[in-house]
Amino acid sequence: MDFQFTEEQLMIKQAARDYAQRELWVDVIERDEKAIYPEKHVKALAELGFMGMMVSPEYDGGGMDTISYVLAMEEISKVDSSVSVILSVNNSLVCWGLETFGTEEQKQKYLRPLARGEKIGAFLLSEPEAGSDATSQHTTAIDMGDYYLLNGTKNWITNGNTASTYLVMAQTHPEKGHKGINAFIVERHWEGISVGPHENKMGMRSSDTHSVMFTDVKVPKENRIGGDGFGFRFAMQTLDGGRIGIAAQAVGIAAGALELALKYAKERKAFGTEIINHQAIAFKLADMAVKVENARNLVLKAAWLKDQHKPYGVASAMAKLYAADIAMQVTTEAVQIHGGYGYVKEYHVERLMREAKLTQIYEGTSEVQHIVISRALAKGELLP
Ligand code: CAA
Repeated sequence: MDFQFTEEQLMIKQAARDYAQRELWVDVIERDEKAIYPEKHVKALAELGFMGMMVSPEYDGGGMDTISYVLAMEEISKVDSSVSVILSVNNSLVCWGLETFGTEEQKQKYLRPLARGEKIGAFLLSEPEAGSDATSQHTTAIDMGDYYLLNGTKNWITNGNTASTYLVMAQTHPEKGHKGINAFIVERHWEGISVGPHENKMGMRSSDTHSVMFTDVKVPKENRIGGDGFGFRFAMQTLDGGRIGIAAQAVGIAAGALELALKYAKERKAFGTEIINHQAIAFKLADMAVKVENARNLVLKAAWLKDQHKPYGVASAMAKLYAADIAMQVTTEAVQIHGGYGYVKEYHVERLMREAKLTQIYEGTSEVQHIVISRALAKGELLP
Protein backbone atom coordinates (compact mmCIF):
# COMPACT_ATOMS: atom_id res chain seq x y z
CA MET A 1 0.00 0.00 0.00
CA ASP A 2 1.42 3.35 -1.08
CA PHE A 3 -0.06 6.56 0.32
CA GLN A 4 2.32 8.77 -1.69
CA PHE A 5 1.13 10.87 -4.59
CA THR A 6 3.25 11.04 -7.72
CA GLU A 7 4.92 14.31 -8.69
CA GLU A 8 2.51 14.68 -11.58
CA GLN A 9 -0.52 14.24 -9.29
CA LEU A 10 0.84 16.86 -6.92
CA MET A 11 1.48 19.27 -9.80
CA ILE A 12 -2.10 18.92 -10.98
CA LYS A 13 -3.42 19.46 -7.45
CA GLN A 14 -1.26 22.60 -7.13
CA ALA A 15 -2.36 23.95 -10.52
CA ALA A 16 -6.02 23.49 -9.54
CA ARG A 17 -5.39 25.11 -6.16
CA ASP A 18 -3.59 28.08 -7.70
CA TYR A 19 -6.42 28.71 -10.13
CA ALA A 20 -9.12 28.31 -7.48
CA GLN A 21 -7.47 30.50 -4.84
CA ARG A 22 -6.30 33.22 -7.25
CA GLU A 23 -9.08 33.41 -9.81
CA LEU A 24 -12.28 31.73 -8.57
CA TRP A 25 -12.04 33.27 -5.11
CA VAL A 26 -12.21 36.84 -6.43
CA ASP A 27 -15.75 36.77 -7.82
CA VAL A 28 -17.31 33.67 -6.27
CA ILE A 29 -19.62 35.57 -3.91
CA GLU A 30 -21.00 37.79 -6.67
CA ARG A 31 -21.47 34.86 -9.06
CA ASP A 32 -23.29 32.92 -6.34
CA GLU A 33 -25.51 35.82 -5.36
CA LYS A 34 -26.49 36.76 -8.92
CA ALA A 35 -26.39 33.18 -10.27
CA ILE A 36 -23.94 34.21 -13.01
CA TYR A 37 -22.65 31.35 -15.17
CA PRO A 38 -18.83 31.15 -14.75
CA GLU A 39 -18.10 31.31 -18.47
CA LYS A 40 -14.61 32.81 -18.32
CA HIS A 41 -13.55 30.29 -15.68
CA VAL A 42 -14.82 27.32 -17.68
CA LYS A 43 -12.83 28.63 -20.69
CA ALA A 44 -9.70 29.15 -18.59
CA LEU A 45 -9.98 25.67 -17.04
CA ALA A 46 -10.41 24.22 -20.54
CA GLU A 47 -7.20 25.97 -21.63
CA LEU A 48 -5.44 24.51 -18.60
CA GLY A 49 -6.64 21.04 -19.70
CA PHE A 50 -9.10 20.35 -16.87
CA MET A 51 -12.31 19.90 -18.87
CA GLY A 52 -11.21 16.59 -20.42
CA MET A 53 -8.43 15.72 -18.05
CA MET A 54 -9.07 11.96 -17.92
CA VAL A 55 -9.65 11.50 -21.67
CA SER A 56 -6.81 9.82 -23.50
CA PRO A 57 -4.51 12.15 -25.55
CA GLU A 58 -5.62 10.18 -28.64
CA TYR A 59 -8.94 12.06 -28.31
CA ASP A 60 -7.40 15.38 -27.25
CA GLY A 61 -7.67 14.80 -23.50
CA GLY A 62 -5.13 15.16 -20.72
CA GLY A 63 -4.59 11.42 -20.17
CA MET A 64 -4.59 11.87 -16.39
CA ASP A 65 -5.68 9.30 -13.85
CA THR A 66 -8.70 9.38 -11.53
CA ILE A 67 -6.50 10.25 -8.52
CA SER A 68 -5.39 13.46 -10.28
CA TYR A 69 -9.00 14.19 -11.14
CA VAL A 70 -10.22 13.91 -7.53
CA LEU A 71 -7.32 16.05 -6.29
CA ALA A 72 -8.27 18.75 -8.80
CA MET A 73 -11.97 18.42 -7.94
CA GLU A 74 -11.19 18.87 -4.25
CA GLU A 75 -9.13 22.03 -4.76
CA ILE A 76 -11.67 23.68 -7.05
CA SER A 77 -14.56 22.72 -4.75
CA LYS A 78 -12.83 24.34 -1.78
CA VAL A 79 -13.69 27.61 -3.49
CA ASP A 80 -16.53 27.09 -5.95
CA SER A 81 -18.58 23.96 -6.53
CA SER A 82 -20.64 25.65 -9.25
CA VAL A 83 -17.48 25.45 -11.32
CA SER A 84 -16.41 21.99 -10.16
CA VAL A 85 -19.78 20.41 -10.99
CA ILE A 86 -19.51 21.67 -14.59
CA LEU A 87 -16.06 20.12 -14.79
CA SER A 88 -17.24 16.93 -13.12
CA VAL A 89 -20.24 16.30 -15.36
CA ASN A 90 -18.16 16.97 -18.47
CA ASN A 91 -15.29 14.73 -17.36
CA SER A 92 -16.70 11.81 -15.49
CA LEU A 93 -20.18 11.44 -16.95
CA VAL A 94 -20.06 12.71 -20.52
CA CYS A 95 -16.44 12.22 -21.65
CA TRP A 96 -15.97 8.98 -19.74
CA GLY A 97 -19.27 7.55 -21.00
CA LEU A 98 -18.38 8.39 -24.61
CA GLU A 99 -14.79 7.20 -24.42
CA THR A 100 -15.72 3.92 -22.73
CA PHE A 101 -18.83 2.96 -24.67
CA GLY A 102 -18.91 5.14 -27.81
CA THR A 103 -18.05 4.00 -31.34
CA GLU A 104 -14.91 5.35 -33.03
CA GLU A 105 -17.08 7.70 -35.13
CA GLN A 106 -18.88 8.98 -32.03
CA LYS A 107 -15.56 9.63 -30.30
CA GLN A 108 -14.08 11.46 -33.30
CA LYS A 109 -17.16 13.61 -33.73
CA TYR A 110 -18.28 14.29 -30.16
CA LEU A 111 -15.56 13.36 -27.68
CA ARG A 112 -12.70 15.42 -29.15
CA PRO A 113 -14.32 18.88 -28.78
CA LEU A 114 -15.64 17.92 -25.32
CA ALA A 115 -12.18 16.79 -24.20
CA ARG A 116 -10.68 20.08 -25.41
CA GLY A 117 -13.40 21.92 -23.48
CA GLU A 118 -14.50 23.72 -26.64
CA LYS A 119 -17.88 22.14 -26.13
CA ILE A 120 -19.64 21.19 -22.92
CA GLY A 121 -21.67 18.06 -22.30
CA ALA A 122 -24.69 17.20 -20.12
CA PHE A 123 -26.08 13.91 -18.81
CA LEU A 124 -29.87 13.63 -19.02
CA LEU A 125 -31.29 10.86 -16.87
CA SER A 126 -33.52 12.47 -14.19
CA GLU A 127 -37.14 13.20 -14.99
CA PRO A 128 -40.04 14.81 -13.12
CA GLU A 129 -41.13 11.31 -12.05
CA ALA A 130 -37.85 9.43 -12.31
CA GLY A 131 -35.20 10.72 -9.93
CA SER A 132 -33.89 8.02 -7.58
CA ASP A 133 -36.15 5.51 -9.36
CA ALA A 134 -34.18 5.83 -12.57
CA THR A 135 -35.65 2.73 -14.26
CA SER A 136 -39.03 4.49 -14.56
CA GLN A 137 -38.09 6.52 -17.62
CA HIS A 138 -41.08 8.28 -19.23
CA THR A 139 -39.04 9.86 -22.02
CA THR A 140 -39.52 7.70 -25.11
CA ALA A 141 -37.30 6.99 -28.10
CA ILE A 142 -39.40 5.19 -30.69
CA ASP A 143 -37.55 3.25 -33.38
CA MET A 144 -38.64 4.73 -36.74
CA GLY A 145 -36.29 2.74 -38.95
CA ASP A 146 -33.56 5.27 -39.87
CA TYR A 147 -33.90 7.26 -36.70
CA TYR A 148 -35.41 7.37 -33.19
CA LEU A 149 -38.17 9.82 -32.33
CA LEU A 150 -37.45 11.35 -28.93
CA ASN A 151 -40.20 12.79 -26.69
CA GLY A 152 -40.21 13.74 -23.02
CA THR A 153 -38.84 16.01 -20.31
CA LYS A 154 -35.61 15.82 -18.33
CA ASN A 155 -35.11 17.64 -15.02
CA TRP A 156 -32.28 19.11 -12.95
CA ILE A 157 -29.83 19.00 -15.82
CA THR A 158 -26.41 20.46 -14.99
CA ASN A 159 -25.08 22.29 -18.09
CA GLY A 160 -28.63 22.03 -19.46
CA ASN A 161 -28.42 25.32 -21.36
CA THR A 162 -24.71 25.66 -22.09
CA ALA A 163 -24.07 22.09 -23.24
CA SER A 164 -23.86 21.39 -26.97
CA THR A 165 -23.83 17.62 -26.49
CA TYR A 166 -26.46 15.82 -24.47
CA LEU A 167 -26.32 12.16 -23.42
CA VAL A 168 -30.01 11.28 -23.10
CA MET A 169 -31.53 8.15 -21.57
CA ALA A 170 -34.96 7.17 -22.96
CA GLN A 171 -37.31 4.19 -23.07
CA THR A 172 -37.53 2.37 -26.41
CA HIS A 173 -39.30 -0.86 -25.35
CA PRO A 174 -41.52 -0.10 -22.31
CA GLU A 175 -42.54 -3.76 -22.03
CA LYS A 176 -38.90 -4.65 -21.23
CA GLY A 177 -38.57 -2.26 -18.27
CA HIS A 178 -35.00 -1.11 -17.66
CA LYS A 179 -33.77 -3.50 -20.36
CA GLY A 180 -35.67 -1.38 -22.90
CA ILE A 181 -33.82 1.86 -22.10
CA ASN A 182 -31.31 3.32 -24.57
CA ALA A 183 -28.74 6.11 -24.32
CA PHE A 184 -28.34 8.61 -27.16
CA ILE A 185 -26.04 11.44 -28.18
CA VAL A 186 -28.26 14.42 -28.95
CA GLU A 187 -27.14 17.81 -30.24
CA ARG A 188 -28.61 20.75 -28.38
CA HIS A 189 -29.47 22.74 -31.54
CA TRP A 190 -31.63 20.01 -33.13
CA GLU A 191 -35.24 20.86 -33.92
CA GLY A 192 -37.75 20.04 -31.21
CA ILE A 193 -35.48 20.79 -28.22
CA SER A 194 -36.38 23.51 -25.75
CA VAL A 195 -34.76 24.45 -22.46
CA GLY A 196 -36.63 25.64 -19.35
CA PRO A 197 -35.62 28.59 -17.16
CA HIS A 198 -32.49 28.56 -14.97
CA GLU A 199 -33.33 26.87 -11.65
CA ASN A 200 -33.05 29.34 -8.76
CA LYS A 201 -31.13 27.01 -6.47
CA MET A 202 -30.20 27.21 -2.77
CA GLY A 203 -26.53 26.51 -3.51
CA MET A 204 -24.23 26.04 -6.53
CA ARG A 205 -26.31 28.89 -7.85
CA SER A 206 -24.13 29.80 -10.79
CA SER A 207 -24.03 26.34 -12.35
CA ASP A 208 -26.41 25.99 -15.21
CA THR A 209 -29.34 23.80 -14.10
CA HIS A 210 -32.39 23.50 -16.36
CA SER A 211 -35.17 21.22 -17.53
CA VAL A 212 -34.86 20.09 -21.15
CA MET A 213 -37.89 19.19 -23.26
CA PHE A 214 -37.88 17.00 -26.38
CA THR A 215 -40.74 17.12 -28.89
CA ASP A 216 -40.45 14.77 -31.86
CA VAL A 217 -36.67 15.11 -31.99
CA LYS A 218 -35.13 12.92 -34.69
CA VAL A 219 -32.05 11.12 -33.41
CA PRO A 220 -29.99 9.29 -36.06
CA LYS A 221 -29.56 5.57 -35.47
CA GLU A 222 -25.76 5.95 -35.30
CA ASN A 223 -26.16 8.19 -32.23
CA ARG A 224 -27.32 5.36 -29.97
CA ILE A 225 -24.62 4.36 -27.48
CA GLY A 226 -24.01 0.62 -27.27
CA GLY A 227 -26.41 -2.17 -28.27
CA ASP A 228 -30.20 -1.94 -28.12
CA GLY A 229 -31.29 -1.83 -24.46
CA PHE A 230 -27.86 -0.90 -23.07
CA GLY A 231 -28.99 2.52 -21.81
CA PHE A 232 -29.71 1.73 -18.16
CA ARG A 233 -26.47 -0.16 -17.66
CA PHE A 234 -24.68 2.71 -19.45
CA ALA A 235 -26.21 5.20 -17.01
CA MET A 236 -25.41 3.13 -13.91
CA GLN A 237 -21.80 2.41 -14.87
CA THR A 238 -21.21 6.03 -15.81
CA LEU A 239 -22.72 7.23 -12.54
CA ASP A 240 -20.40 4.90 -10.59
CA GLY A 241 -17.53 7.11 -11.79
CA GLY A 242 -19.53 10.33 -11.57
CA ARG A 243 -20.13 9.69 -7.89
CA ILE A 244 -16.37 9.62 -7.23
CA GLY A 245 -16.22 13.16 -8.64
CA ILE A 246 -19.12 14.38 -6.48
CA ALA A 247 -17.60 12.69 -3.43
CA ALA A 248 -14.37 14.59 -4.14
CA GLN A 249 -16.43 17.75 -4.45
CA ALA A 250 -17.95 17.10 -1.02
CA VAL A 251 -14.47 16.58 0.44
CA GLY A 252 -13.40 19.88 -1.12
CA ILE A 253 -16.38 21.72 0.37
CA ALA A 254 -15.63 20.28 3.82
CA ALA A 255 -11.88 20.88 3.54
CA GLY A 256 -12.49 24.44 2.36
CA ALA A 257 -14.74 25.10 5.35
CA LEU A 258 -12.14 23.59 7.68
CA GLU A 259 -9.37 25.81 6.25
CA LEU A 260 -11.53 28.91 6.74
CA ALA A 261 -12.63 27.93 10.25
CA LEU A 262 -9.04 27.22 11.29
CA LYS A 263 -7.84 30.57 9.95
CA TYR A 264 -10.67 32.38 11.74
CA ALA A 265 -10.06 30.52 15.00
CA LYS A 266 -6.39 31.57 14.97
CA GLU A 267 -7.27 35.23 14.44
CA ARG A 268 -10.45 35.83 16.41
CA LYS A 269 -10.04 36.64 20.08
CA ALA A 270 -12.60 36.03 22.83
CA PHE A 271 -12.20 35.80 26.60
CA GLY A 272 -8.66 37.16 26.30
CA THR A 273 -7.20 34.72 23.79
CA GLU A 274 -7.52 33.42 20.21
CA ILE A 275 -10.56 31.16 20.14
CA ILE A 276 -8.48 28.18 18.96
CA ASN A 277 -7.10 28.13 22.51
CA HIS A 278 -10.54 27.25 23.85
CA GLN A 279 -11.16 23.51 23.90
CA ALA A 280 -14.72 24.02 22.72
CA ILE A 281 -13.31 25.27 19.42
CA ALA A 282 -10.08 23.23 19.22
CA PHE A 283 -11.89 19.92 19.68
CA LYS A 284 -14.49 20.86 17.09
CA LEU A 285 -11.67 21.57 14.63
CA ALA A 286 -10.03 18.25 15.46
CA ASP A 287 -13.27 16.36 14.79
CA MET A 288 -13.73 18.23 11.53
CA ALA A 289 -10.18 17.30 10.42
CA VAL A 290 -10.75 13.61 11.17
CA LYS A 291 -13.95 13.60 9.13
CA VAL A 292 -12.29 15.30 6.16
CA GLU A 293 -9.35 12.88 6.28
CA ASN A 294 -11.66 9.86 6.45
CA ALA A 295 -13.79 11.05 3.56
CA ARG A 296 -10.72 11.89 1.48
CA ASN A 297 -9.35 8.40 2.02
CA LEU A 298 -12.62 6.82 0.87
CA VAL A 299 -12.57 8.99 -2.24
CA LEU A 300 -8.94 8.16 -3.00
CA LYS A 301 -9.63 4.46 -2.56
CA ALA A 302 -12.54 4.56 -5.00
CA ALA A 303 -10.39 6.54 -7.47
CA TRP A 304 -7.52 4.10 -7.06
CA LEU A 305 -9.80 1.09 -7.66
CA LYS A 306 -11.07 2.73 -10.86
CA ASP A 307 -7.51 3.38 -12.05
CA GLN A 308 -6.60 -0.25 -11.29
CA HIS A 309 -9.61 -1.46 -13.34
CA LYS A 310 -11.04 -3.16 -10.27
CA PRO A 311 -14.76 -2.97 -9.31
CA TYR A 312 -15.44 0.45 -7.77
CA GLY A 313 -19.24 0.91 -7.74
CA VAL A 314 -19.70 0.20 -4.03
CA ALA A 315 -16.54 2.10 -3.06
CA SER A 316 -17.81 5.12 -4.97
CA ALA A 317 -21.23 4.90 -3.28
CA MET A 318 -19.53 4.71 0.14
CA ALA A 319 -17.29 7.66 -0.66
CA LYS A 320 -20.20 9.77 -1.87
CA LEU A 321 -22.48 8.88 1.04
CA TYR A 322 -19.89 9.60 3.69
CA ALA A 323 -18.27 12.63 2.08
CA ALA A 324 -21.63 14.32 1.47
CA ASP A 325 -22.77 13.70 5.05
CA ILE A 326 -19.55 15.00 6.62
CA ALA A 327 -19.58 17.99 4.25
CA MET A 328 -22.91 18.97 5.81
CA GLN A 329 -21.56 18.42 9.34
CA VAL A 330 -18.22 20.15 8.81
CA THR A 331 -19.69 23.20 7.06
CA THR A 332 -22.31 23.55 9.80
CA GLU A 333 -19.56 23.52 12.42
CA ALA A 334 -17.52 26.02 10.39
CA VAL A 335 -20.48 28.41 10.46
CA GLN A 336 -20.80 27.84 14.21
CA ILE A 337 -17.12 28.60 14.83
CA HIS A 338 -17.50 31.87 12.91
CA GLY A 339 -20.51 32.84 15.08
CA GLY A 340 -22.51 35.70 13.55
CA TYR A 341 -19.83 36.23 10.87
CA GLY A 342 -20.48 32.71 9.64
CA TYR A 343 -24.03 33.65 8.81
CA VAL A 344 -23.10 36.44 6.38
CA LYS A 345 -21.80 36.00 2.86
CA GLU A 346 -18.38 37.70 3.15
CA TYR A 347 -16.98 34.83 5.21
CA HIS A 348 -17.85 32.17 2.59
CA VAL A 349 -18.80 29.38 5.01
CA GLU A 350 -22.57 29.86 4.70
CA ARG A 351 -22.17 29.34 0.92
CA LEU A 352 -20.14 26.17 1.49
CA MET A 353 -22.90 24.91 3.80
CA ARG A 354 -25.51 25.52 1.08
CA GLU A 355 -23.30 23.77 -1.48
CA ALA A 356 -22.76 20.77 0.83
CA LYS A 357 -26.49 20.07 0.89
CA LEU A 358 -26.58 19.42 -2.84
CA THR A 359 -23.93 16.71 -2.59
CA GLN A 360 -26.43 14.67 -0.53
CA ILE A 361 -28.99 15.02 -3.30
CA TYR A 362 -27.53 14.86 -6.81
CA GLU A 363 -25.88 12.03 -8.79
CA GLY A 364 -27.85 9.75 -6.51
CA THR A 365 -29.25 10.83 -3.15
CA SER A 366 -27.76 9.52 0.09
CA GLU A 367 -30.70 7.08 0.12
CA VAL A 368 -29.61 5.71 -3.28
CA GLN A 369 -26.06 5.20 -1.98
CA HIS A 370 -27.54 3.33 1.01
CA ILE A 371 -29.39 1.06 -1.43
CA VAL A 372 -26.22 0.29 -3.39
CA ILE A 373 -24.16 -0.40 -0.25
CA SER A 374 -26.81 -2.41 1.61
CA ARG A 375 -27.46 -4.61 -1.44
CA ALA A 376 -23.74 -5.35 -1.72
CA LEU A 377 -23.66 -6.14 1.99
CA ALA A 378 -26.64 -8.49 1.64
CA LYS A 379 -24.84 -10.31 -1.18
CA GLY A 380 -21.84 -10.78 1.11
CA GLU A 381 -19.62 -8.61 -1.13
CA LEU A 382 -18.27 -6.39 1.62
CA LEU A 383 -17.25 -8.95 4.18
CA PRO A 384 -13.56 -9.84 4.40
N1 CAA B 1 -23.32 -1.14 -12.94
C1 CAA B 1 -23.81 -2.00 -13.86
N2 CAA B 1 -25.06 -2.45 -13.85
C2 CAA B 1 -25.87 -2.02 -12.88
C3 CAA B 1 -25.45 -1.13 -11.89
C4 CAA B 1 -24.12 -0.68 -11.94
N3 CAA B 1 -23.60 0.18 -11.04
N4 CAA B 1 -26.47 -0.87 -11.05
C5 CAA B 1 -27.51 -1.58 -11.48
N5 CAA B 1 -27.15 -2.28 -12.60
C6 CAA B 1 -27.97 -3.21 -13.36
C7 CAA B 1 -28.41 -4.37 -12.47
O1 CAA B 1 -27.45 -5.40 -12.48
C8 CAA B 1 -29.71 -4.78 -13.11
O2 CAA B 1 -29.42 -5.55 -14.28
P1 CAA B 1 -30.17 -6.96 -14.57
O3 CAA B 1 -31.63 -6.67 -14.57
O4 CAA B 1 -29.61 -7.37 -15.88
O5 CAA B 1 -29.79 -7.84 -13.43
C9 CAA B 1 -30.27 -3.47 -13.62
O6 CAA B 1 -29.17 -2.58 -13.75
C10 CAA B 1 -31.31 -2.89 -12.71
O7 CAA B 1 -30.71 -2.69 -11.46
P2 CAA B 1 -31.50 -2.65 -10.10
O8 CAA B 1 -32.45 -3.81 -10.05
O9 CAA B 1 -30.50 -2.52 -9.02
O10 CAA B 1 -32.36 -1.32 -10.32
P3 CAA B 1 -33.24 -0.51 -9.27
O11 CAA B 1 -34.46 -0.06 -9.96
O12 CAA B 1 -33.39 -1.28 -8.01
O13 CAA B 1 -32.36 0.84 -9.03
C11 CAA B 1 -30.70 2.30 -8.15
C12 CAA B 1 -31.12 0.87 -8.50
C13 CAA B 1 -29.29 2.14 -7.58
C14 CAA B 1 -31.61 2.95 -7.13
C15 CAA B 1 -30.64 3.16 -9.44
O14 CAA B 1 -31.93 3.38 -9.98
C16 CAA B 1 -30.00 4.52 -9.22
O15 CAA B 1 -28.78 4.62 -9.19
N6 CAA B 1 -30.80 5.59 -9.08
C17 CAA B 1 -30.28 6.97 -8.93
C18 CAA B 1 -30.07 7.61 -10.25
C19 CAA B 1 -29.14 8.79 -10.15
O16 CAA B 1 -28.06 8.72 -9.60
N7 CAA B 1 -29.56 9.89 -10.74
C20 CAA B 1 -28.74 11.06 -10.80
C21 CAA B 1 -28.93 11.73 -12.09
S1 CAA B 1 -27.48 12.28 -12.88
C22 CAA B 1 -27.12 13.79 -12.22
O17 CAA B 1 -27.52 14.17 -11.15
C23 CAA B 1 -26.21 14.52 -13.14
C24 CAA B 1 -26.14 15.96 -12.96
O18 CAA B 1 -26.55 16.72 -13.79
C25 CAA B 1 -25.37 16.47 -11.77
